[in-house]
Amino acid sequence: MSNFNLEEIEKKLEEEFKEIDSPNKLENLRLQYLGRKGILAQLTSGLAILPLEERRQKGQRINALKQKIETFLSAKEKELADISFSSGEKIDIGLPAVAQHFGGLHPIHQMIGEICKIFVNMGFKVVEGPEIETEYNNFTALNIALEHPCRDVFDTFYIKEETLNPSFKNSKEKFLLRSHTSPVQIRVMQTYKPPLAVVVPGKVYRPDAVDASHSFMFHQIEGFLVDKEVKFSDLKGILYNFACNVFGEKIKMRFRPHYFPFTEPSAEVDISCIICDGKGCSVCSKKGWLEVLGCGMIHPKVFKNVGYDPKEYKGFAFGMGVERIVMLKYGIDDIRLFFENDLRFLEQF
Ligand code: DAH
Repeated sequence: MSNFNLEEIEKKLEEEFKEIDSPNKLENLRLQYLGRKGILAQLTSGLAILPLEERRQKGQRINALKQKIETFLSAKEKELADISFSSGEKIDIGLPAVAQHFGGLHPIHQMIGEICKIFVNMGFKVVEGPEIETEYNNFTALNIALEHPCRDVFDTFYIKEETLNPSFKNSKEKFLLRSHTSPVQIRVMQTYKPPLAVVVPGKVYRPDAVDASHSFMFHQIEGFLVDKEVKFSDLKGILYNFACNVFGEKIKMRFRPHYFPFTEPSAEVDISCIICDGKGCSVCSKKGWLEVLGCGMIHPKVFKNVGYDPKEYKGFAFGMGVERIVMLKYGIDDIRLFFENDLRFLEQF
């Protein structure tokens, strides 16, 4: 190797270098040139027999070449590490990234969160109850009489006795899918003493034929407050604050007398139409008002049924359909959209 031609070696190296496309090949090249028995080691060992001046010159050139190879190798190593996950596998780092798809909360659940937060800010607690209820909690304790038409099997999904868990069989109770969230009032009042301020979000079920405004399952939020001194005006203030938070401070609110068995007096609450500002449009059917919820002062019989003395305690309650609130707020005209899982719809929220 004493008659070496460094230019030729360098040229050969550059050619070989172009072929390197994996860490394995790079390591082989390193061994071939810089290894203990590699080309450079051989060149260096050949220097010993040369005259001093020539040895010095060739020694310097070999060192320069060695440094050049080392720089090459480490640059290539970095390049390979950047573009490969494992040997042989390459990615195109120039390719634009595929945008990540982020999921999100369903609009109904966003609204449940928003409404609960409004009430929590007013001092209410959030409580949930079971979707399978007793007939007693769903109807009787709420003063809904046996002969009341909504008790009829057509308005409620009753659960067949044979489908019940064996431990519930032979119970005198009838079980059903709750048709409203009001039975959670009973559960809470049976368990806790006043003062109470509670909101209850959850699913409810009714055997309605599905159409643009009916679904056999939908969501309600129930609310109630019990204490020694509670007035209808407290209910009005709380509900007005709620509606301003959801629909904006510009709305007007009105209470229309109504009938619910579990409240006396009872009312339905309307807000001025948020589309036409009360002037009358297709959303409010030219009435200028949108019905948002039902409410009233808790009936003395309901208090008696949970063991509260109606002379000592007063309370108000209200219940609203969450789908309805979302539909009014965003001008959605078909409840089925909430349950079809069409991302084109859901991603707008
Ligand atoms: N439970 C009633 C329904 O499903 C809604 C309701 C109205 C709840 C008045 C209440 C209330 O607590 O006071 O239609």
